[in-house]
Amino acid sequence: MSQYRAVEGVVNDWHLVHLGRFAMGGAGLIYAEATAVEDRGKRTHGDLGLWNDAQAEALKPITSFLKREGAVPGVQLSHAGRKASERRPWHGETPVDAEDLKQRQEMPWQPIGPSPVAYADGWPVPTEMTVEDIYEVIAAFGSAAKRSYEAGFEIIEIYAAHGFLIHQFLSPVSNKRADGWGGSLENRQRFAVEVAKSVRANWPEHLPLAFRLSATDWLEDVLELSDTVTISRALKDAGVDMIDCSSGGIGGRDRPKRMTIEQGFQAPFAEEVRREAGISTMAVGFLWDAEFCEELVREGKADMIALARELLADPNWPLHAADQLSSEETKSLWPIEFGWWLQRRDRLLKKLGFR
Ligand SMILES: Cc1cc2nc3c(=O)[nH]c(=O)nc-3n(C[C@H](O)[C@H](O)[C@H](O)COP(=O)(O)O)c2cc1C
Repeated sequence: MSQYRAVEGVVNDWHLVHLGRFAMGGAGLIYAEATAVEDRGKRTHGDLGLWNDAQAEALKPITSFLKREGAVPGVQLSHAGRKASERRPWHGETPVDAEDLKQRQEMPWQPIGPSPVAYADGWPVPTEMTVEDIYEVIAAFGSAAKRSYEAGFEIIEIYAAHGFLIHQFLSPVSNKRADGWGGSLENRQRFAVEVAKSVRANWPEHLPLAFRLSATDWLEDVLELSDTVTISRALKDAGVDMIDCSSGGIGGRDRPKRMTIEQGFQAPFAEEVRREAGISTMAVGFLWDAEFCEELVREGKADMIALARELLADPNWPLHAADQLSSEETKSLWPIEFGWWLQRRDRLLKKLGFR
């Protein structure tokens, strides 16, 4: 989850505490937020980056802490494309302009994209990427993968969802190219596949590589679930191990299809991709109930589940879930500095008849 608190792409104590408390709360895998592979690929001025060695070096104490506390540290490599140069959510989630320069000494910058099509009215028209630009960004993903390993991460997820650069290539809403990188689905998915190959070549074979896709654009006849299955198969052939199935975010003027938001509303995407593309999947979005999440995995609808906002509300959610789902004593799963006391308190509460 982006915190928008980095300075020049470098983490600080905030990120250590933010990510560290999820490890203390029992999370198995903790992804650091969207991390830009090049400066112009940041979404906001507060984004993390991995385009230089100083950024990688600063991440080492965080990955060490997460590992020491029993979690797997993951990183999400990203390029914002036409959605770059954006204000932080609490500053409006609109493009950076002269006002930001006045208030925060933050300059706007020129975004790039597959085609000169703005994200929405009032957003900058991105500079259409040349073929040289395309290969430069593909190489930047590879270099960031190498730095991810040096920084101590054990899983990479490529951010190809929510309207960011790779999604912009995948979706006909934002990709109007007439060359080999646009048009047919095979051409539109080429950028994603080349990024996967570049990362795989710079990331140890034994470590997993995941992709986060928007399984549907929620628009009529645009990027549909059946396309996502095709893309997932191509990514699997390029060395990708898992698809994290989210949705939406491409923008555009079409009317979004009606969607019903209920617990686990994106989980059917993870189920379909898992079955049809024969690849591991992660379900995400509007999940909070431990029983519900357990069932998704038990019934083979997804291999993993991801939580975002519920973990902001309760960083100890995994430990509480273990307690809810198990008949055994689970306080021994807590860090001993907490669990030792809670175990004793549980016994006392039981003895006094409160539990
Ligand atoms: C504060 C915040 C920051 C987020 N940052 C990212 C991000 O960096 N990368 C990403 O893929 N999704 C990001 N998301 C989306 C979440 O990963 C998740 O897909 C979404 O919140 C739905 O899951 P939830 O209902 O468990 O929150 C963010 C969400 C929140 C609330």
